[in-house]
Amino acid sequence: MIKNIYSFFVVLFLISIIYACRQSKPFDSDEYNEVFTADYHTAIDDGAGAYAHPLIGLSAREEAFHDLGDGFFETNFVPNQANYHASGLGPLYNNISCVSCHPSDGRGKAPLPGEVINSMLFKLALSGLDSKGFPNKVPGFGGQLQDKAIIGSAIEGKVDVQYIESNFQFPDGETVKLRKPIYTLTNLYQPISSQVIVSPRLARPVYGVGFLESISEESILKNVDEMDVDGDGISGKANYVYDFVNNKEKVLGRIGWKASVANIKSQVTRALNEDIGITSSVVPDEQIKGQIQEPNSSGIELPDSIVDALTFYIRTLSVPARRDVKNQQIIQGKKLFSIAGCASCHTPNHQTEINPAFKPLSGLNIFPYTDLLLHDMGLDLADGFSEFEAKGNEWRTPPLWGIGLTQKVNGHNNFLHDGRARNFTEAILWHGGEAIKAKTKFVNYTKNERLALIKFLESL
Ligand code: HEC
Ligand code: HEC
Repeated sequence: MIKNIYSFFVVLFLISIIYACRQSKPFDSDEYNEVFTADYHTAIDDGAGAYAHPLIGLSAREEAFHDLGDGFFETNFVPNQANYHASGLGPLYNNISCVSCHPSDGRGKAPLPGEVINSMLFKLALSGLDSKGFPNKVPGFGGQLQDKAIIGSAIEGKVDVQYIESNFQFPDGETVKLRKPIYTLTNLYQPISSQVIVSPRLARPVYGVGFLESISEESILKNVDEMDVDGDGISGKANYVYDFVNNKEKVLGRIGWKASVANIKSQVTRALNEDIGITSSVVPDEQIKGQIQEPNSSGIELPDSIVDALTFYIRTLSVPARRDVKNQQIIQGKKLFSIAGCASCHTPNHQTEINPAFKPLSGLNIFPYTDLLLHDMGLDLADGFSEFEAKGNEWRTPPLWGIGLTQKVNGHNNFLHDGRARNFTEAILWHGGEAIKAKTKFVNYTKNERLALIKFLESL
């Protein structure tokens, strides 16, 4: 009996707490949850360093490993130099460090006409895929144009960028200037096939990728709707790629503008090799292999321990918190985002897999605003470049978390795979293909509604 009375009071107490919380809840609890974009790891920082925070609760040893990786992320590699920790740059490369393309762990900037291209690169291919699904390489050039070289080697070529400007007018009369890039290969060290396909890629932000790598396949695949069975005009297709770290075929792709990379280690070893000219045990051949100017092999330039530290560094970068979630205009903007159908691709919420091997990324509730799937985005954005299952008009929905701090961290708002958009409005106006309905809804919103939606994006 005493026990029962006791339980009765405990239950009453709990009910009253829940009731009190509901009463005092200052705003919708969904909004409140969403402050914590990356669960308990969320970085409470809205300044210039917002993308550079490690996960919470790493052990001292893990923190040291993260810092080691951070050091190498920021190190300038130099041409072969005995007994130097960051040696082996080139012979061909695009830049000398990770951070030069990913400043403050953020995104690259699109070049203006005549500017040296630093935080962007150009993939090359001939049409079709090889037996593993990689784009067919271009003889003498490989899969990426390296526009820089160490002394004694010739650059493969350069890229000239021009923009065609056009005017867009909203029904209410407001006009926006859009720019579409045109790229011309110049200074080529030897003639290139006229059939070459060029895919421009702006350096993506690198924070939060560890969470994306840890989302359960189930959470991603439940949004696949390749035949558009639900008839909403949005299909969503998974990319299945070759994982060259584990030598496995048909692994779910998650990383990069076309989700053509399965895991962080693949991305890191490929970046080292193709972007900086650094070989590792995973990608042991220099980019220049097969070219007339191939040098003697220089062996493996970065040991596994450092590759692992770099990989761990990326895996353990967190995501900044959302801001101003109580603001009425932002709450309205979020509703309009949903009503327009943006959230059908930029799906707000996912869960990470239970992973006893690495508890910090296990079983989290996160708000990345992406389905990690491929979508036809229409002709204006198409690059004609296929990678595995991704076609020339298909792109992976990019995560939007943290995107509202781009201006603060990186000093610009260049969005989309080639950085053509100079603000959120332009980014939305380029949406086509499966996103045409969403774009049209946005276009037909009133000026105040559009403003609210943009404010919401700025709060991410
Ligand atoms: C020359 C510029 C450049 C350099 C140098 C560079 N990257 Fe990147 N990085 C890119 C581009 C471009 C992408 C997008 C690639 C794509 O989508 O195909 C990217 C994508 C990534 C991504 C995936 C982000 C995402 O959300 O998809 C990670 C992680 C990354 N880089 C890490 C690194 C690391 C680590 C280094 C140094 C070893 C490095 N990068 C060096 C340009 C660069
Ligand atoms: C059919 C799926 C789909 C829908 C619907 C959609 N998007 Fe996107 N969104 C994408 C894809 C894919 C990209 C990348 C395109 C590219 O880079 O060429 C993108 C890019 C973006 C970017 C730039 C991200 C970056 O990192 O550069 C923003 C911002 C954005 N979308 C906002 C919106 C808003 C707002 C809406 C609704 C009005 C919307 N999107 C609707 C798929 C979609």
